[in-house]
Amino acid sequence: MKIAMASDHGGLGLKEQIKKYLEEQGIEVLDLGTNSEESVDYPVYGKACGEAVMSGKADRGIVFCGTGIGISIAANKVKGIRCALCTDVPMAEMTRKHNDANVLAMGGRTTDPEMAKAITQKWLDTEFEGGRHQRRVDMLNQM
Ligand code: RB5
Repeated sequence: MKIAMASDHGGLGLKEQIKKYLEEQGIEVLDLGTNSEESVDYPVYGKACGEAVMSGKADRGIVFCGTGIGISIAANKVKGIRCALCTDVPMAEMTRKHNDANVLAMGGRTTDPEMAKAITQKWLDTEFEGGRHQRRVDMLNQM
C-alpha cells in the first residue's frame, strides 16, 4: 500500500513522526509537503493529498494540520475523498468499517504521537464492512 501524506506547518512534526512509523513497516510514502516550519496554507496541502488519492498516485492519504480540522475540510472538497478526522482508536476503526475513509486526518497540536501511531495502525488494518454501508458511501460519492 502506498500512502500520500501532507501537512501544513502545524502538522509537520506529527507528519514526520508518522512517516517514519510507516516507513519502518515497509509502507511506501508519497510526501507532498510541507517540509519546513514556514507558515503555509492548509487548503493547498489537503487538496494535493486528495488529488493524489483520486488520481491513483497513492492508495490512501493521511493529512495533518494544527487541529486536523482545516486540512480535513480541504481534503473533503476533492470529489471521491472521504476524509475522517480521528482523535482516538475507535474513531479510526469505525470510519474504516462504516465510511470507507480513504484519507485520515490528525492534529499535530492536539494528538500526541503515540496516540497518532495507534490511530494510524487501526485505520490501516481495518477493512470496510460494505453491506448497508456501501449504499451510504455511494450516496456520499454522488454528492
Ligand atoms: C495554522 O495556524 C492552523 O490554523 C492550522 O494548522 C489548522 O489547525 C487549521 O485548521
